[in-house]
Amino acid sequence: MAGFTTRAIHAVHNLEKNAIVPPIYLASTFIQPSDGTPGEYEYQRGSNPTRTAVETTLAQLENAQYSYVYSSGMGASSAALGLVRNGETLLMGMPSYGGNYRFATIELPKRGAHVKFIADFTTLSDEDFSDNVTMVFLETPTNPTLKVSDITRISQIAHRNGAIVVVDNTFLTPYLQRPLELGADITVQSATKYLSGHADLLGGVASTNNPELAEELHKAQLILGGILPPADSYRLLQNVKTLGLRLERQQENAQRLIQAIKKHPAVDCILYPGSASAEETKIQSQQAQGQGAVFSFILAEGHDIQKFIEALNIFSFAVSLGGIESLVCLPATMTQGAYTQEHLDMFGVHPRLIRVAVGIEDYEDLLEDFTTALNAS
Ligand SMILES: Cc1ncc(COP(=O)(O)O)c(C=O)c1O
Repeated sequence: MAGFTTRAIHAVHNLEKNAIVPPIYLASTFIQPSDGTPGEYEYQRGSNPTRTAVETTLAQLENAQYSYVYSSGMGASSAALGLVRNGETLLMGMPSYGGNYRFATIELPKRGAHVKFIADFTTLSDEDFSDNVTMVFLETPTNPTLKVSDITRISQIAHRNGAIVVVDNTFLTPYLQRPLELGADITVQSATKYLSGHADLLGGVASTNNPELAEELHKAQLILGGILPPADSYRLLQNVKTLGLRLERQQENAQRLIQAIKKHPAVDCILYPGSASAEETKIQSQQAQGQGAVFSFILAEGHDIQKFIEALNIFSFAVSLGGIESLVCLPATMTQGAYTQEHLDMFGVHPRLIRVAVGIEDYEDLLEDFTTALNAS
């Protein structure tokens, strides 16, 4: 099989007039034969050639048979989480991104479904599946505490209890981790982050190898209607071609920064995939090809968060991650702002925890910016 970046560039060959990139098909509808039998394409919400091009590429990168793109990462998460039906229970790994948490705590109860939170999957056992659990939904590493869970082991326990496993792979992308190869049934990602990578597009993708689940994910496009439009599909297709290059650089910058600041007196503790324990380091090295480019740290007592943020010049204070520009945010009030105080405390979203999403800028500039801000705090 060709390498990741070769596939990202060459998965699609529907070239017209020898153009090196595929065209954008803006058509909302497609002319049908007079006998009423639809052709390959019928109406843009169902599918369209530009969306097919990016879905084909993303499926190849995931090693999946089926990928579906939506108008945001939450569109993809909702398509998957919406498979939990009346009377069923979702096991959700925590902490989870605030939008996923919102779906579990606001949408599921409306549908007569339930959620049970799991803070630590190492103790997951058959007993956890007693209340008609039909899905386990997890992020590994978690957002924003970067805790790592064993996808293979969780999938084995879930499957023998008749539940499916959905992994939100936004933080690592298929370049670094492919959950379907490890036993998960569906992966979802916010394409807004690394896949697209330039902070100018909202999108999401859900992938699977299971034809019945694929049918459901496609129905979420067709029925709920939150599809990725053709122009955005095209831009995602173009941007994903450089995912490997961007992520290598972002990851290298992040690792160097972690090493450089971890002993700084303003840094109480630093969190990255595998930092929690030797066991998590081992799992991370077995199931992923790297640690990604997001880390978090707790600003030491006596240091001022506001002063730290105000002193930053290159890092911007904003939600999101995975773009070429470096960002910091305060998850307790921003990405996890929907959490109850009890859940913030219970799942380790500390009020002084700062999440750092490292971009592709020159490392020396990032280091200088960051240490200047730590000193100013
Ligand atoms: C892990 C994770 N999943 C899903 C989402 C939702 O993505 P979007 O903002 O594209 O809807 C986000 C957004 O920050 C995220 O961080």
